[in-house]
Formats: sequence, C-alpha cells, structure tokens
Amino acid sequence: MENEDHRNGEPTHDHHASKKRRFAPFLTEADIREEFSHHKADFARINNGSFGSCPRSVLEAQRKWQQKFLQQPDDFYFNTLRPGILRSRTVIKDLINADDVDEVSLVDNATTAAAIIMQQIGRRFADGSFARNDGVVMLHCAYVAVKKSIQAYVARAGGSVVEVQLPFPVSSNEEIIAEFRKGLEKGKENGRKIRLAIIDHITSMPSVVIPVGELVRICRQEGVEQVFVDAAHAIGQVKVDVKEIDADFYVSNLHKWFFCPPSVAFLYCKKSSWFSDIHHPVVSHEYGNGLPIESSWIGTRDYSSQLVIPSAVEFFDRFEGGLAGIMAKNHKQVVEMGKMLAESWGTNLGSSTEMCASMIMVGLPSSLFILSQDDALRLRSHLRACYGVEVPIHFQDPRDDDGMKGNNGSITAYVRISHQVYNTLDDYCKLRDAIIKLVENQTVCRELHME
Ligand SMILES: Cc1ncc(COP(=O)(O)O)c(C=O)c1O
Repeated sequence: MENEDHRNGEPTHDHHASKKRRFAPFLTEADIREEFSHHKADFARINNGSFGSCPRSVLEAQRKWQQKFLQQPDDFYFNTLRPGILRSRTVIKDLINADDVDEVSLVDNATTAAAIIMQQIGRRFADGSFARNDGVVMLHCAYVAVKKSIQAYVARAGGSVVEVQLPFPVSSNEEIIAEFRKGLEKGKENGRKIRLAIIDHITSMPSVVIPVGELVRICRQEGVEQVFVDAAHAIGQVKVDVKEIDADFYVSNLHKWFFCPPSVAFLYCKKSSWFSDIHHPVVSHEYGNGLPIESSWIGTRDYSSQLVIPSAVEFFDRFEGGLAGIMAKNHKQVVEMGKMLAESWGTNLGSSTEMCASMIMVGLPSSLFILSQDDALRLRSHLRACYGVEVPIHFQDPRDDDGMKGNNGSITAYVRISHQVYNTLDDYCKLRDAIIKLVENQTVCRELHME
C-alpha cells in the first residue's frame, strides 16, 4: 500500500501518460538507424532476446534523470524520485490491465523477482505453514537463475520440486498442456500439496510461447496455491493482460523488448492474503511498507532505468500502431526469416509459427555435428568472432527427447533468432551464409576453438 509519505507523490498525478495524444511523426527507416547507431557497426545482432536494446532517445532521457540526481541529490530524493517511480508504475499498471497501482512494483530484473517469490515460499516452509515435501512445479527448461532460486530458497527449506518436460520440437499447445497436467499429478502424489507453479510465458531456451492463461486455469482447478509467471521476455513481444492471465505473480523485464535501459522489470502481485508477506530481498528503510515502496528505495543507487519508462512509451508510440504494431511486425518478420533460414539449410522450425512471437527456433544442419552444449557454445563463439553474427544456440539433447522426435529427428541444435525494429534482412543473410560456408567446409563443431 502507498503510505502517506509525501515522497510517494500524488497518486492521481499524470496517470495516463501512456494515453497521451501522439504529436511526433512516425519514425522513418533513417530515424530508426539513428536511434540504434550506438550498436556495433557491421554486426548482425539477431539476439535481442538476451539483453534487449535501448534507443538513443531513451538513453538521453536516462542521462537527464541521472544529471538531475547529481545536481541536487537531496531534493531529488525528497521530491522527485518517488513521484517519478509512481508515474512509471502507473504507466505499467494501465498497460497490463492491473486493478491497482499497488499491485505493480519495479525491480531490477526477473532474477530479483524470482528471489522475491521464492523467499516468500521458503519462509512459509520455515515457519511450518507448509508441510515438508509440499512442493513446486515448473518447466524443466525454466531459466537457470530461476531454478537456482528454487534450489536456494525452496528445496533447501524442504520443498519438493517437479519438473515438467517441454515437448520440443512442438506443434501445438495441447502437447504442452498434456505434459503440464502430468507434472501436476506427479506434484500431488502421496498427498503432497503444490504450493507454487512457476510457468514461463515465453521460454528462453528453446523459445516457445506457452499457453499461460490455460495453464493458470488448470492450476486453479487442481488446487495449486500460488502461480508465478516468469514472463521475462513477454512485454513487448506479446499482449500482457494480467487480469486475463490471472496469475498471482507476473514478472516481465522492461529492458528486453520494451526499449528500457538495463535494468528494470515490473513485478505484478495480485492482492491476496499473502500480499503483505512479499518483500524485497534487499531490506532497507521502507521494509514493511509494501513491495512497491520497499522496491522504490533499496539504498543509494541509480534509479534512472525505472524513471525512464514513460520515455520508452514515447519511443514506441512513434511507430505505426505503437507497441502492438511493433509486435505484429516483429512476428511477421521473424517468421519470414526463420522460414528462409530453414529452407536454405534444409531444416525445420522448432515450433509452429503461432507458438512464437518475436523469437523463433530454426534447426541447424546436422552435418555440423553439434553433439553437446559445449559444441553449441563453440559455434556461437565462432559465429561472433569470425562472421560478426550474434545468435544463441540451443543444443537439443536427444536424451531429453522422451521419444518425441517429430519430423526433426536428426536436428540436434537450433538457433534462436530474434527480430527487433533495428534488424534488417542483411543480418539474417549473414547468418545464413556463415552456416552454409561452415557446412561446405565440412566443419565439425567439436573442432572449433572458443574465440
Ligand atoms: C525466462 C527467463 N527468466 C528470467 C530471466 C532473467 O532475466 P534477468 O537476467 O534480466 O534477471 C531470463 C533472461 O533471459 C529469462 O529468459
């Protein structure tokens, strides 16, 4: 809850920054090139998914916030910081269709949000509210940092962990739903209760858009107590409506696909009986004043990436259709590029095109002999150093396959390509030609050096 502290600003102030009329003209191709002219020249950056990107105009707005702080830090602390953060939270609240701005906190990143949720679960094991062996259910390809958080806070406190295999390659939501149902059954064996389900909205590796609304509904039917959606990649790739999804917790990075500088994420926490027991892992002056306020001051640091959110909105509103227009175009382009690559290499996509947003998995030729995670890393490093291409590579361990070969039996690795507004056809042609050349040279990935 907002406290009465004047540093919280006026809650009604400028709530509809995101709905302001747009007066600036749409950006041209040349404007877009200028906005991203700080990107390394002649480099095919087709990995927006990992670290996102931030346009020049937003970086300039960020610099202004930083200067404002340095000019008069005390005035900034007492009069500017909290109203600015409230403005940003309000923009996000409107965008994600939350009921109340108190449900929206700004934190550094999805990793921090995961720690917040897992610590809360861990405390309930520690104080005896949960029985030993009650547990959590998650996808086996959940992000490693999130899995470590589960290990550190839940498993160590006595919780059991069930991993659901994500079918991959995958062609329908039903395949995922069937596996998820099996995971819930396993989680409830021997009378255990599932205290938390962790569901990715868009998995990282391999990347697939998960039918998250449907999985949350199943969790509710099956008596799962809390649902945390790790949507690190979601906002800016897919529409986010937290009321429609109806999870208890939903985190999305704003520095990946929302044009914010690193690092900032929003964490939505639906009002519930455990709402007041959600705390920031860094305890500071505001402990006990609710997560949004705790997160607004975790000691002296640079808060500019949180303050700059309205400027990111101004940036994407300069595209036809705003963020929705960008998402639609990115999807169309990434599908087109994915199909072009698969056709050139004689491979397949890793999922049906409806199961991807702005990232898609494309099978690599089996003649590259990618037979381990290390081989995949060696190839990635080689593409970066020798061909000027940045693209993550997923090794699909046949042992993970669970008998599901689909029509991609011989494919052992997939590139995850991203499309963002700054990408051009040349970026993907560079990747296509590099792989073709490696195949022609009969390259075996095990023999490549880490560059
Ligand atoms: C699914 C998923 N969860 C969590 C994270 C962690 O994000 P961050 O490093 O910004 O905390 C990532 C990062 O790529 C991710 O893909």
